[in-house]
Amino acid sequence: MSLQEILNHRRATRHYDPSKPIDPERVKQCLQLATLAPTSSNMQLWECYHVTDKAVLAKLAHACLDQLSARSAQEMVVFVTRQDLYKRHAEAARKFEEENQRRNSPAEKQEKRIKKWDLYYGKVMPFLYSRCLGVWGLVRKLLAQCVGLTRPIVRQVSEGDVRVVVHKSCALAVQTFMLAMSEAGYDTCPLEGFDSRLVKKALGLPHKVEINMVVTCGVRLPDGVWGDRYRQPFDETYHRV
Ligand SMILES: Cc1cc2nc3c(=O)[nH]c(=O)nc-3n(C[C@H](O)[C@H](O)[C@H](O)COP(=O)(O)O)c2cc1C
Repeated sequence: MSLQEILNHRRATRHYDPSKPIDPERVKQCLQLATLAPTSSNMQLWECYHVTDKAVLAKLAHACLDQLSARSAQEMVVFVTRQDLYKRHAEAARKFEEENQRRNSPAEKQEKRIKKWDLYYGKVMPFLYSRCLGVWGLVRKLLAQCVGLTRPIVRQVSEGDVRVVVHKSCALAVQTFMLAMSEAGYDTCPLEGFDSRLVKKALGLPHKVEINMVVTCGVRLPDGVWGDRYRQPFDETYHRV
């Protein structure tokens, strides 16, 4: 399928064929492709839980408000954000960039570039992602306001803003996964109609993990897609400047 065909084929699927199981290995490959999605500052603060166990699927279906899409799913993937892992991920990215610069930058530019990444992942990212009851966000906001008086600056730096950033990046991985599944001939439906406490309980996830989306997976039944696709008129969405 071309990208255009994949995009047209992907539909939110609400009823899956019980006689058509899907290959967990193929789904895993699609999840591997999802890791190619971009993330803000390449922090990759997301994880996925690929559920194939029938007992856990039943608990998840209930946690997803017993929606038919979840009850009939052959497998499910729960995408979660892990902002709590920011220090570990920043340090891993810092180390990677050090080696990356040594491998790929001209010798005379290496040290300067390594220093830049040290500052970015060693100081800026830990400062941006740290949370403490909104206090760090307030400090960052005030700082951004002051710096912003004289030059352009990222202003979305409150703790709420940064949480949105992490969820945005995770959602890009979700979409990449759903497109990869479409290419594999499988169907999906992204769900945010779920009880996050029950989802965490079903998967044994800690409190600090946030559920981004649950994606149901399978092969659609003819009634699995609810008719034609509705989109707002394109000229209301598209603005050429
Ligand atoms: C963040 C998000 C949450 C969604 N949650 C649900 C849901 O809980 N239940 C459901 O049936 N569909 C859910 N959907 C699917 C949308 O309703 C669907 O994508 C939309 O109607 C467009 O249809 P299409 O995907 O077939 O183009 C969700 C979609 C997104 C992006």
